[in-house]
Amino acid sequence: MHFHIMTLFPEMVLDGLNTSIIGRAKEKGYISIDAINIRDYTLDKHKKVDDYTYGGGAGMLMQAQPVYDTYQAVKGQIEERKAGAEMSSKPRVIYVTPQGEVFTQKKAAELAKEEDLIFLCGHYEGIDERVLEEIVTDYISIGDYVLTGGELPAMVMIDAISRLVPGVLNNGDSAETESHSNGLLEYPQYSRPEVWHDKKVPDVLMSGHHANIEKWRLEQSLLRTKERRPEMYEAYMEAHPPKPEKKRRKKKSTQETAE
Ligand code: ADE
Repeated sequence: MHFHIMTLFPEMVLDGLNTSIIGRAKEKGYISIDAINIRDYTLDKHKKVDDYTYGGGAGMLMQAQPVYDTYQAVKGQIEERKAGAEMSSKPRVIYVTPQGEVFTQKKAAELAKEEDLIFLCGHYEGIDERVLEEIVTDYISIGDYVLTGGELPAMVMIDAISRLVPGVLNNGDSAETESHSNGLLEYPQYSRPEVWHDKKVPDVLMSGHHANIEKWRLEQSLLRTKERRPEMYEAYMEAHPPKPEKKRRKKKSTQETAE
């Protein structure tokens, strides 16, 4: 997976995505992260990338030209890397904006299948609509609140997507059992010591009885989801209605059969 981040603050995203699991995934070549400075592509002699908004209103807007030329440069890099190989389709360009659809684990899984993803980070009051119309394929928000720029949301999404790229997590299982991957929050977990602050690890987890442990974990996931995220619980129950209990069939008495 190759991430390309169009931004006015390349060092912010590169520094933030250089540590821990994502840093290691980069080193090992499972992902690559490139940050391209939009300011490098402005034709303005003072290196300006923003201007006043037509019609008035507070704040400045990022102009179309530097954003479009940055996009063309990134697209050119991708094409060059793929030279000779078949370029299946145009790379997806994600504009991170509070006006987008809200990012979810499902969206992360969908985007993790792409080979290249371009993130466009806005600043000031936004970006000239005309260039968005030409280059953006997805408008995505990380939640219903407003941040000062698109860099943090892009980093959040890149982190969530990267850990779904095969090889990035050492333990192949953990992405499947964790919260949100099956529509439920994850069950509580415990490690050593067995007793801490007078609190004992639940007996079932010490029993070695795998079927009982699975059953307990599912119950705990359901309880936790119901309490903390009732809307998620409702959706899960609708998709997984409890199976009707099997009625024990009474044997017909010999008398009834005879009648
Ligand atoms: N830019 C500013 N706020 C944002 C948000 N909540 N999500 C995505 N991009 C943003």
